[in-house]
Amino acid sequence: MQPRVGSFGSLEEGKEPMVRTISQSNRPFPLRLLQFLLLLLGLGILFSFLSMYASRFLKVQSEISVVQSRFQPCIQDKNTIASWIKPPANILHEMNDTELFWRGSFVPQIKEYPFKRTPKIAFMFLTRGPLPMAPLWERFFNGNEKLYSIYVHSLPSYQPDFPSSSVFYGRQIPSQVAEWGMMSMCDAERRLLANALLDISNEFFVLLSEACIPLQNFSIIYRYISRSRYSFIGSFDEDGPYGRGRYDERMSPTVNLTDWRKGSQWFEINRKLAVDIVRDSLYYPKFEQFCRPACYVDEHYFPTMLSIESPELLANRTLTWVDWSRGGAHPATFGKGDINEEFFKRIFNSGECFYNNQPTSLCYMFARKFAPNALDHLLEYSSKFFGF
Ligand SMILES: *[C@@H]1O[C@H](CO)[C@@H](O)[C@H](O)[C@H]1NC(C)=O
Ligand SMILES: *[C@@H]1O[C@H](CO)[C@@H](O)[C@H](O)[C@H]1NC(C)=O
Ligand SMILES: *[C@@H]1O[C@H](CO)[C@@H](O)[C@H](O)[C@H]1NC(C)=O
Ligand SMILES: *[C@@H]1O[C@H](CO)[C@@H](O)[C@H](O)[C@H]1NC(C)=O
Repeated sequence: MQPRVGSFGSLEEGKEPMVRTISQSNRPFPLRLLQFLLLLLGLGILFSFLSMYASRFLKVQSEISVVQSRFQPCIQDKNTIASWIKPPANILHEMNDTELFWRGSFVPQIKEYPFKRTPKIAFMFLTRGPLPMAPLWERFFNGNEKLYSIYVHSLPSYQPDFPSSSVFYGRQIPSQVAEWGMMSMCDAERRLLANALLDISNEFFVLLSEACIPLQNFSIIYRYISRSRYSFIGSFDEDGPYGRGRYDERMSPTVNLTDWRKGSQWFEINRKLAVDIVRDSLYYPKFEQFCRPACYVDEHYFPTMLSIESPELLANRTLTWVDWSRGGAHPATFGKGDINEEFFKRIFNSGECFYNNQPTSLCYMFARKFAPNALDHLLEYSSKFFGF
């Protein structure tokens, strides 16, 4: 803001002396001189009017040049549609969550866009710190620059060190501490969504972790997601202590027992559902108050809320493969020794699912969890296994 104020100031200074000359010359004088001064005054008024118009025009110009010099070259005229639809030049901002969520919830009321809009997938990485699979993702993204955007939420103490050539460079959003199973985890996911919503071309929102990898090339994943009638979020009604057993009756009638859903947090949702999550103030307080460990809120809040509000938009399954077969509280993590053809055959043949109401064996676009030491093998075989 500072430079903009400065440039206004310097324009105003140009006008100041003229006004002062006029007021100073306002003393008793002989008639001739007075006539002459009146003429000057008239001219002065005329000029000041002219300069007002000119400066209004110049102000706009100087504003633009300030913006241009501080950020990247952008739009010439602030009043074009382009100024409303361009993504924020800088992903960092000074908004707190209240302000960010409010801004992120803006929705146009006319469905048709008056410009050519290429829908992008926002890849949102919810991490603690480093992204060990970054080289694999770099390869995955390569060549698809117009079709994706990236957002990274990491612990605030973490200092990323991606080179400026990386797709992850400068994609860290203002973050806060997020703890697994706590509301702060949902807050982080909403923060990622709200930041991604600021770019109006983002239409699909995929939540990933640092242990996730893509299982298909970009074009397959883009087509799978963009042509789906449904959003992919795990959402099922489970009996027993880990499902309905986590429900608290004090949530009713906002959430009844029959509405209670469970699903893994790794979702893919469209823009409408992303806005619904960011703007929610009805379900949030219920989950914050009544779903605390051993109720793991990140497994229930979004699936339950979206199933109540928009059940017809949900595929009720996730695109992210994971292996719970080893038992315990955490899914299996795969390392160097696990990465071979058999392993990926097992993933690709792990059953049937529905895609746009048709049965298919292509069910998963992403997989977790992979240890950093799996990277070399994944890179070596990525074209064979995943087609990129
Ligand atoms: C954000 O700032 C506004 C205005 O200062 C304040 O009312 C609001 O409570 C803040 N929100 C958070 C989450 O800190
Ligand atoms: C929960 O049940 C009550 C009473 O039957 C009903 O009024 C309310 O709409 C239900 N809530 C939802 C989210 O369906
Ligand atoms: C997902 O589940 C909801 C009920 O929660 C149901 O209404 C919807 O039809 C299901 N979606 C699909 C694609 O079957
Ligand atoms: C992506 O994979 C599919 C199937 O494996 C292949 O037909 C297609 O050519 C690949 N696309 C690119 C851009 O590599």
